[in-house]
Amino acid sequence: MTPEPHSPTDTDDTRLGPPPGCPAHGTGPGGLRRLYGPEAEDLGAVYEKLRAEHGAVAPALLHQDVPIWVVLGHGENLHMVSSPSQFCKDSRLWTSMRDGTVEPDHPLMPYFAWQPICAHAEGDEHLRLRGAVTGAMSTIDHRGIRRHINRATQHLVNQFCEDGNADLVAEFAEHLPMAVICEILGMPEEYGDRLVQAARDCLKGTETAIASHAYLMEVLSRLAVRRRAQPQEDFTSHLVTHPAGLTDDEVREHLRVVLLASYETTANLLANVLRMVLTEPGFRAQLNGGQMTVPEAVEQSLWDEPPFSTVFAYFAKQETELGGQRIRKGDGLLFAPAPGNVDPRVRPDLKANMMGNRSHLAFGGGTHECPGQDIGRAIADVGVDALLTRVPDIQLACEEDELRWRSSIGNRHLVELPVRFTPKAQQDVAEQPAVNPSLRQRPNDWQVSFVPTPPTVPAPAVPVDEPTAAPAAAPVPEPAHRPGLFRRILRWWHGE
Ligand code: HEM
Repeated sequence: MTPEPHSPTDTDDTRLGPPPGCPAHGTGPGGLRRLYGPEAEDLGAVYEKLRAEHGAVAPALLHQDVPIWVVLGHGENLHMVSSPSQFCKDSRLWTSMRDGTVEPDHPLMPYFAWQPICAHAEGDEHLRLRGAVTGAMSTIDHRGIRRHINRATQHLVNQFCEDGNADLVAEFAEHLPMAVICEILGMPEEYGDRLVQAARDCLKGTETAIASHAYLMEVLSRLAVRRRAQPQEDFTSHLVTHPAGLTDDEVREHLRVVLLASYETTANLLANVLRMVLTEPGFRAQLNGGQMTVPEAVEQSLWDEPPFSTVFAYFAKQETELGGQRIRKGDGLLFAPAPGNVDPRVRPDLKANMMGNRSHLAFGGGTHECPGQDIGRAIADVGVDALLTRVPDIQLACEEDELRWRSSIGNRHLVELPVRFTPKAQQDVAEQPAVNPSLRQRPNDWQVSFVPTPPTVPAPAVPVDEPTAAPAAAPVPEPAHRPGLFRRILRWWHGE
């Protein structure tokens, strides 16, 4: 934030620090609370102290004592993400980045550093990039996806069902999203331990993270090149051929964003829902008794433990006010679903069941709202339901207080979820049609369950058969079994 005398985040101005005896005293420079290090082991508690001290928007310190506002209020978070004229995600505007307060080796630099991806873009460029992503997503057959999620769940359960015990984090939650996303992207053959391990590495920043990232990018580049040469009926082909005309780099970067964003969040969501079902007796009873559905349990988890606790970051485009705080042009703000979802103004009773209410902040909001939320929800809904159906007597195999979490400012996830159950025989996972018609033979009753909506970007200024837009002009193979409706939609989609 801009250092100036009356800025509450002015780290040089100790006059603004709390008086001696104040609970905030002795934290970081200026008496500001740190969101990292030993003082922040329980970030939930830190957010509540900040709320009590400052209200809905609080000044705090990131690693290396970089000042940041944390948006704690539900309404204030929504206002920020829905006001693109006041706040944007372009870190090049951030005063702390421009004046060198954020050093190049800052541990959060991978999140801060501006990249040419929809998650950082604004205005027309955001429309163009996001339009290609949502356009490609709109071609996904959601019924086919649900069938694939069910099949992938059966396959994973087969790996451990005869043992009578499992770790649902390592053997289930960290695998199912990868199996599904590989299918959606059009690379089911790449799904396997190696890819799961590589994604884990990248996200956990282990010693092998750089090599794992290189491996992931190599896999995604190969896929993009193959689909550029010969588009098929999958997300990647639709991304490549979208009229927005993404470059090879843009295609690769967006495949990476989609793969990593969907993997980490959905793995967290699955683990959280399963933990909730296994440890909170009320949930299990309500599910068994039919008073609660799995989708409602998923929504409850999205309120209580949003997979992204905070998202880096929004930046003020002009001087403004938020939650009673004066925000300067160039200030950085953390979008914070975790404290926003427990704002006492919207949830006076945290134990109250939210009954499937979807107005939580787990998927963000405004122009950057998560475009993959239906897929994330479907993986959790179908995966949890199918798992509980296969092993209905599943129980936690340790004391609840033995469960361990790994926390960072961006998320908090279970390290393991050990369970036991009566050993079961494997179940036949019949090879059935999958999401990509070109990769699996579809039966005759296959039908389009999701009609694409028009792209959110305007039609390209150049005709699709211009050399610069060559991918869009590439002929789309039409498998003989594709029914007429789908062919008509494809023709419309390509402007024929
Ligand atoms: C439970 C699962 C998921 C959660 C909780 C989640 C959450 C989020 C959040 C909080 C954002 C940022 C919103 C903001 O910056 O204001 C986001 C953005 C995004 N998510 Fe998800 N997500 C999930 C699953 C997925 C899946 C399955 C996909 C793709 C298949 C996906 C693709 C994306 C993309 C591309 C963006 C960037 C959008 C933009 O900036 O315009 N997400 N997600």
